[in-house]
Amino acid sequence: MAAKGKLIKPHGSDELNPLFVYDSAKNEALQKEAAGLASIVVSSATAANAVMLGGGYFNPLTGYMNKADALSVAKTMKTTSGLFWPVPILNLVKDAGSIKAGDRIALKDPNVDGNPVLAVMEVKAVEEFSDEDMAMMSENVYRPNHKEAHPGVDAFNAQGKVCLSGPIQVLNFSYFQEEFPDTFRTAVEIRNEIAERGWKKVVAFQTRNPMHLAHEELCHMAMDRLGCDGLVIHMLLGKLKKGDIPAPVRDAAIRKMVELYFPKNSAMVTGYGFDMLYAGPREGVLHAIFRQNMGATHFIVGRDHAGVGDHYGPFDAQIIFDKEVPKGALLIEIFKADHTAYSKKLNKVMMMCEAPDHTKEDFVLLSGTKVREMLGKGIAPPKEFSRPEVAEILIKYYQSLEK
Ligand code: ADX
Repeated sequence: MAAKGKLIKPHGSDELNPLFVYDSAKNEALQKEAAGLASIVVSSATAANAVMLGGGYFNPLTGYMNKADALSVAKTMKTTSGLFWPVPILNLVKDAGSIKAGDRIALKDPNVDGNPVLAVMEVKAVEEFSDEDMAMMSENVYRPNHKEAHPGVDAFNAQGKVCLSGPIQVLNFSYFQEEFPDTFRTAVEIRNEIAERGWKKVVAFQTRNPMHLAHEELCHMAMDRLGCDGLVIHMLLGKLKKGDIPAPVRDAAIRKMVELYFPKNSAMVTGYGFDMLYAGPREGVLHAIFRQNMGATHFIVGRDHAGVGDHYGPFDAQIIFDKEVPKGALLIEIFKADHTAYSKKLNKVMMMCEAPDHTKEDFVLLSGTKVREMLGKGIAPPKEFSRPEVAEILIKYYQSLEK
């Protein structure tokens, strides 16, 4: 199923090449074959990689990286063949058993009851990373501060050190289509919808949180300043760390906000099936690549993008695009946003750098902890921070946790 229309080119190729097997006869034949193949239940991260590869988001990759490519990507943001890529895309296991190069194997889904087959893989190599390799990859990709635990590094290391590499054919999209029928979209589907809507300039917004007033206004600012035809809100639907808000609640809150506060047909509410890496700057670059693959021309990177705890500086995910991404490596353009908040002096949401006469006290600023505390008690944050209709959905969720 090729994407329609002439949009921004995907990353690294002229056409998008999703690895999902759309031909139903072929898909069925592969499922039959898979039943007789050696199989492994993969890690959640590996499964999420398959879903992203299947949907075309990780174009032009054809499967899981081998050791040389993964080390090269971690060190230099390039594969051994020179493709620009910021994060190793791996199938890591603790023990490969009798699986060897040349085998075809079935990859089973850890996140769906009964572990159905998610993909068929042609194993090109079985290699082991040393402890030094693992440490180098987590240092370069996740850049932890070592003063606090890093959920991304922990999830990365928990998978094992044995690397199974080779091309895959993806047979389904895990739990995402069933659990998020209105929201989960492949890159192919988003490209097609952008083309059908006739949008030429499209800005994408990454999110793993509910959207408060600052985020809503940030999207409006980006659209207005760039002169966009449309906005694609693109939320993460995969696994998050404990304490983050589950996707169905975020989805409902974002849909409500769009329904009430965005002009009709100006924003698409969509999501993708990937586990959060919390890798800050490097994840920001990966985000940009897959937004280009889905047909967005611009991508918003704001404060502490894809960050966690105190691991990154507030604008590290912007700096990487200036300092480390080679010119011309990406076609998508970054819309950099400064810390954005409601100004009590001007009675509107502002980027702080655009209100130089303001002090911190002139803005409505609430910490995440404070907001959670208020919502848990059934108190809506001030309307300068959250839309009341959004707060209502979040209050319901937090109160359900107390029971
Ligand atoms: S993220 O992990 O997906 O980046 P989140 O959903 O909180 O987290 O943020 C979505 C986007 O909005 C990111 O680009 C982030 O940098 C940006 N952002 C969030 N809050 C602010 C803010 N107050 N000011 C500027 N940018 C922000």
